[in-house]
Amino acid sequence: MKFLVTPRSEFAGTFKVPGDKSISHRAVMFAAIAEGESRIQGFLEGEDCLATLQAFAAMGVQSERLENGDVVVQGVGKQGLKAPTADLDIGNSGTSIRLLTGLLAGQAFRSCLRGDHSLMTRPMRRVCDPLALMGADLTTAESGTPPVEVRPVRQLQGIEYELPVASAQVKSAILLAGLYAEGETTVIESKATRDHTERMLQAFDYPIQKQGNRITLTGGHSWQGRRLQVPADISSAAFFIVAACIADHGEVVLPNVGLNPTRTGVLDILLAMNADIEIRQQQLVDGEPVATIVARASRLRGVDVPTELVPSAIDEFPIICIAAACAEGTTRITEAAELRVKESDRIAQVAKGLQTLGIEHEEFADGLSIVGGPIGGGRIDSASDHRIAMAFTVASLAAREPIEIIDCANVATSFPDFVALATDAGLSIEVCE
Ligand code: S3P
Repeated sequence: MKFLVTPRSEFAGTFKVPGDKSISHRAVMFAAIAEGESRIQGFLEGEDCLATLQAFAAMGVQSERLENGDVVVQGVGKQGLKAPTADLDIGNSGTSIRLLTGLLAGQAFRSCLRGDHSLMTRPMRRVCDPLALMGADLTTAESGTPPVEVRPVRQLQGIEYELPVASAQVKSAILLAGLYAEGETTVIESKATRDHTERMLQAFDYPIQKQGNRITLTGGHSWQGRRLQVPADISSAAFFIVAACIADHGEVVLPNVGLNPTRTGVLDILLAMNADIEIRQQQLVDGEPVATIVARASRLRGVDVPTELVPSAIDEFPIICIAAACAEGTTRITEAAELRVKESDRIAQVAKGLQTLGIEHEEFADGLSIVGGPIGGGRIDSASDHRIAMAFTVASLAAREPIEIIDCANVATSFPDFVALATDAGLSIEVCE
């Protein structure tokens, strides 16, 4: 699938951005092993989260997707999952494979996790190494990538583990295994990463302690199913926020967006770039802060992105780079080497795309610098990466010529109605199969 986007100058309206991907995955996982029924409101019906739901279906967890988008999950309890009869194929979803590896490490059956071409290149040792320290029996391909085979062991043991990479997926995999381990499991993070796992455990009344940068839980407790509300995904909202900022005119209003402080780096960076963004009606829903975001056409300025903001903006760098291309002056992103092991090598893909559009930039091992300037057109390869595809689509609001973006089908992994909503807001996107 490819997108042909024609330059447009206005971006405006009020939009319901789909549910948060990270929280939707976790909601399914905790609901699946809860006692009794859970109802998840605002669930992201994107391919990644549906892959998680499908994986639990293959392990005997029944669920129903209601017409209003709610998902009702019949929890089987912590010991109630059944051995899958085939490998679990979870498509493009890094969060599914990392978190499920942790959860499956403590089960009394063998399982094997695999996915699409991109997923089969994602590093898994970062998860398997700490799980092995807990006594898990796992193997990956020789390159440390999927497939991951998880074999049953008699009993996992709690560990104390300092994360070598800032990764919420690794932290969450260890905590999920910790639910099945004997004794205490402690994860220590040198840089705070998204804490949805910790907040959701608390929402399910599971005892978990956070002291400074140490997170500790003890295995063995169970929990009851409940009703959960998933806020709109700030990572998806980011495309609309930047679109509004780089358009010549217009204002977007995005209600009910999750504003967990471990996710709001993109707002801090855009505000430092002089973006006209307003936050209204903040409240707490199921332990997660949510608010309405209003963004308007802005005169953006380049910035040196503070390195402490990198983990809390990690998924938003493709669209931050488009903001940088539209800003006056230079933006520098460093200490972001993790971008090279996402759904694509996002540093390389962004650099190639900027090259095509005629934007001056320099690529580093751990980031890039971008000098804002006039944006041209041309053919961009998204490398099957949803966020690269959406970022370069948004660039059409500042472009002088049409942009063609190839390999866009994976937009459906995180933002299935992106084309419809972005078109309503003012973009001109022709989808070609
Ligand atoms: C996620 C954590 C991040 C992020 C990913 C979702 C999560 O990955 O990039 O899109 O839901 O825990 P890392 O843990 O690899 O940083």
